[in-house]
Amino acid sequence: MPLFPDHLIQEVAEKNDIYELVSQYVSLKRAGSSYVGLCPFHNEKTPSFSVSPHKGIFHCFGCGEGGNSIGFLMKIENISFYEAVTRLAERANIELPKPDTTDFDRGNEKKKERELVYAINKDAATKFYENLKTSKIAIEYFKNREIDGAWAKKFWLGFAKDSWDDMFVYLKDKGYTESDILKAGLITGNDNGKFYDRFRNRVIFPIFDERDNIIGFGGRVLNDDKPKYLNSSEGLVFSKGKNLFSLNNAKRTRADFVILVEGYMDVIALAMNGYTNTVATLGTALTPDQAKILKKYFKEVVLCYDSDSAGRTATNRAITIMRQTDLKASVMYLSGGKDPDEFIKKMGKDAFNSALEARKTDITYLIEYYREKYEINIDGQKVAYIDELIPYLLLITNPVELDVYVNKLANLTEISTQSLYSQLGIKKVNSPQKITQAKTIDKNKIQGGRSKVDITRESLLALLLSNRQLYEHYGKYLSDDLFGGGVLLDIFLYIKSVYEEGKNIDINLMMVSLKEDNTKQLARILSIDTHITDEIKAFKDYLKTLKEQVRREKIYETLSAGNVEQLNDMIKKNN
Ligand code: GTP
Ligand code: MN
Repeated sequence: MPLFPDHLIQEVAEKNDIYELVSQYVSLKRAGSSYVGLCPFHNEKTPSFSVSPHKGIFHCFGCGEGGNSIGFLMKIENISFYEAVTRLAERANIELPKPDTTDFDRGNEKKKERELVYAINKDAATKFYENLKTSKIAIEYFKNREIDGAWAKKFWLGFAKDSWDDMFVYLKDKGYTESDILKAGLITGNDNGKFYDRFRNRVIFPIFDERDNIIGFGGRVLNDDKPKYLNSSEGLVFSKGKNLFSLNNAKRTRADFVILVEGYMDVIALAMNGYTNTVATLGTALTPDQAKILKKYFKEVVLCYDSDSAGRTATNRAITIMRQTDLKASVMYLSGGKDPDEFIKKMGKDAFNSALEARKTDITYLIEYYREKYEINIDGQKVAYIDELIPYLLLITNPVELDVYVNKLANLTEISTQSLYSQLGIKKVNSPQKITQAKTIDKNKIQGGRSKVDITRESLLALLLSNRQLYEHYGKYLSDDLFGGGVLLDIFLYIKSVYEEGKNIDINLMMVSLKEDNTKQLARILSIDTHITDEIKAFKDYLKTLKEQVRREKIYETLSAGNVEQLNDMIKKNN
């Protein structure tokens, strides 16, 4: 990004008063040391947009937009960083040198590399499709699975010939180099440095990203050979954990919910029956990245995994991941067919639709699922049954929702809600712990897509930014792992490096030094009101809360990874 040296960008940001700049677009009213107005970036009737001339930033509490003067101009005029800096430099009479484009070019090269892989994949998909049209066995295979030509075309299905180099030769003839084809993951090298086709004698399912690029392929054997499925190798553009099969189609439906299944064939079978809002993971368990992507497009995820025990276990893990992403999850259960593909073919669309309509919320599903595993009339089993459910109940951040399920469970097991709550670590009776414990639960609640732990992190960072002495006294208690791995860690590391050098924070310089995506978050942190009477006490409180939240997060992570032994160790250590 930096086309100009940092100090010049900093100067440009500083010399353009944010209040003056924003006033040209928004009518602002004074409110204490800052100004407020109606946010130009989203629709609102009461002002939640604030400008702080002193800090040189703007921030909207409604939509989360924020940044410095450069960011504001970029956003409001819909122009590039380069363009905004140039215009603002002109406005402030600052002369800019010829831009240094090395970083820009490097970024562009990566983009070009990715685009080359997309192009290779697209040519390969076309070739696979052509192969299918002339391959009797592949046509026969799809026919047996009730997929006709029109649907094969819609999903770009294909066939990889039973040959060592059919695709390799084809792509070389198209002018692609060996190393490019290797990058696309379509060939594999052997020990003698010879290359051969990765996909041989398999039916092919192209995998698209959100923007309709072909990022890779899944190939299935035509018989019972192993491995049943083979995917493109992980690489520059293909990542199993960050993409979902048929998301490009599903997002176009603009449906409220998406159906999440395990297999490619399940997606196709459901789409053929009108459920185009179906996606599948790419042969791995659902990841937090995938949950976040789904959250962008859908309000609810309907889990529709295979009805075997592997599918049931995967369902429970997916529920944990979605709770942590604050994405509504429900579960539909298909009896009488091993997977959705089989079910809809055997039982028909109406039966599927009934099962869809009868879907249960995630927690109701779990209460019923574990109910089948225990004989709760036997005391010991009743206790074990409740212990199974506790970790999931702890994932509920809305106290009202928690109450609903605690009551349900109390009725079912004839155990008082009080003891259930105390098992959850929440004392509902009159005890001094009442308030503090209730607060801990509340802290895990999600606000505007951010987890409570991030909100604590932000409050802590806001105090650190406003008061260097806090760092000098308490810096030693702030380990990097308290700040997660994302933007907030970047911000913390920046603050740390400046304070360690004995310098003060310069906000504009900081804006310039952080990655462009991070400035929004920084603006939000800077807008947090830190005029607290007892900053030291507040700081200590936040730190204590954060440590507890991070500990909980680790427990949840271990839980979703299904590592029970490690989980028990963690809980023991902390008790
Ligand atoms: P069909 O037998 O064709 O109906 O397959 P399916 O889609 O029902 O497959 P299954 O339920 O066995 O597996 C679900 C998904 O897991 C598949 O769509 C693949 O993405 C993935 N998968 C299954 N087997 C393998 C394998 O051997 N290797 C890899 N990499 N992925 C697999
Ligand atoms: Mn199947």
